Amino acid sequence: MDGEDFVDCIRAALSPNAGLKYQRLHKSACLTRYPSRDLKHHKKVCKFVMDTYAPIVLAAGKGTRMRSTLPKVLHQVAGLPLLAHVLNAIDAISSTSAFAPLQTTISGHRPIVVLGHEADQVEASFGERCLYALQEEQSGTGHAVLAAEYVVNELKPVPQTILVCYGDTPLISGEILARVLVEHFTSHATLTFLTAISEQPSDFGRVVRDTDGRVREIVEVKRANEKQKRITEVNSGVYCFDRSWLWSALHALPRNASGEYYLTDLVAIASSQGYKIATVSGTFDETIGINDRMQLAAAERLLRMRVLEQFMYAGVTILDPASTYIDADVEIGPDTVILPGTMITGKTRIGSACRIGPGTTIDKSTLGNGCIVLNSVLEESILEDGVRIGPFSHCRPGAHLARNVRMGNFGEVKNSYIGAETDIHHFSYIGDATVGEHVNIGAGSITCNYDGVRKNHTTIGDGASIGSDTMLVAPVTVGEYAITGAGSVVNRDVPPGAVVVGVPARVLRMPQPSESSTTEDVVKE
Ligand code: UD1
Ligand code: MG
Repeated sequence: MDGEDFVDCIRAALSPNAGLKYQRLHKSACLTRYPSRDLKHHKKVCKFVMDTYAPIVLAAGKGTRMRSTLPKVLHQVAGLPLLAHVLNAIDAISSTSAFAPLQTTISGHRPIVVLGHEADQVEASFGERCLYALQEEQSGTGHAVLAAEYVVNELKPVPQTILVCYGDTPLISGEILARVLVEHFTSHATLTFLTAISEQPSDFGRVVRDTDGRVREIVEVKRANEKQKRITEVNSGVYCFDRSWLWSALHALPRNASGEYYLTDLVAIASSQGYKIATVSGTFDETIGINDRMQLAAAERLLRMRVLEQFMYAGVTILDPASTYIDADVEIGPDTVILPGTMITGKTRIGSACRIGPGTTIDKSTLGNGCIVLNSVLEESILEDGVRIGPFSHCRPGAHLARNVRMGNFGEVKNSYIGAETDIHHFSYIGDATVGEHVNIGAGSITCNYDGVRKNHTTIGDGASIGSDTMLVAPVTVGEYAITGAGSVVNRDVPPGAVVVGVPARVLRMPQPSESSTTEDVVKE
């Protein structure tokens, strides 16, 4: 790599959009050309700033105990990857009230996510939301933090404090992270970490204190003796470090008996060197780390209940929380009632005063106010105000039902716009269609949109009346206020106001010049 390439590479790596690809280049360039690793040649002299921190999230591990091909941090709880919950908590730090007593502004840098196993897959899921560091071999949590050193060192302003979280703790909140930061700043500790009490601490690291209550070390369960295993205070995996101490301690950290570099071993080192260690006590539920599918299910239960509680406090009635599943990303307006057996997922938005369920699934859809959805499935659909669906109907991706559309038993709509006040009451399929306002689709009517090769479009004008069991063979247009007779097979365009019947449909009557069609003329089912 010549000088110019190197400079370009550094620029790319340091740009806010730098991804792992550039960082790999950057790192190899640094190591080849500047083995000192610290890029002193390229650092500008930068003011020492007391009030910034850099969050580092460890997400490089394979998650062996999950027994999965998916990287652990991409497994989902409440509809979001584990890592997304941790990043949301970091985003929420600044909006908590925890910093108020400090009377100073503390700003955080963009989170640095340490990736390793399936790094590209994880990076693709989060893009520019984070900066990334690469831990090429997963040699432990201490080694993983060190992998982020070169990214931290390029931040402007250089952060004084490093906040470390694990990407597998989805119940962590911005409030508790802020409490750890505040404790760190106010106690002037070198190292502050979060603990919790659990009567069943399973594989969590145990917090060992001396008789005066001072923290001495964190012992991982693999290396704990029987007495230590009975300790109920556990390490929750959230830490604040003084940056310069952290890097020097990590560079000096030896491999432990397991052949890894444990971040938790820094506690014993800080203690033996006489540095101040502070702790914050959180609830165990909030800090649960996901290592296997049992813990994943436990987190799902806890998080789901937390999400439901937030909705209930915000004015949503949930009749049976035990049988209601709502993802963390969903929004629901007040006075909406959610009935049992309902699952609402993805980025779904539901307005106020709706009635959803029982037995309903809604995914990535938008519903206005006052909608009713009974025993039905909606996927990637839009329902404007006052739409009523069900029982037993299905809106597939691209369905857009305008104001007050009524869609009854066993209807299916896909990739179609249905105009306001239109009725599709019984056993109909509307696919790849544009349907006007005040249309009546008779029982059993179908848009025959697929000719075996292509999907073809159907257009139905305002006020048209489609008789029961009509087959609309697309591409075809039914004009405004036209009528099709029961059982007709319409394979040619129907002029506005005409009446067609039969197989194939023929014109029975054309509109008379004196006739002025209105919606009242339309024969309803
Ligand atoms: C860790 C703690 C333990 C704590 C628990 C809380 C250590 C040694 N132990 O144990 O004290 O009670 O979390 O949940 O830190 N990772 C990397 N690179 C690695 C290894 C791990 O990025 O080389 C990441 C993982 O992807 C994961 C996180 O670090 O997100 C924690 O690793 P994990 O293996 O889950 O540690 P635990 O056994 O849970
Ligand atoms: Mg873990």
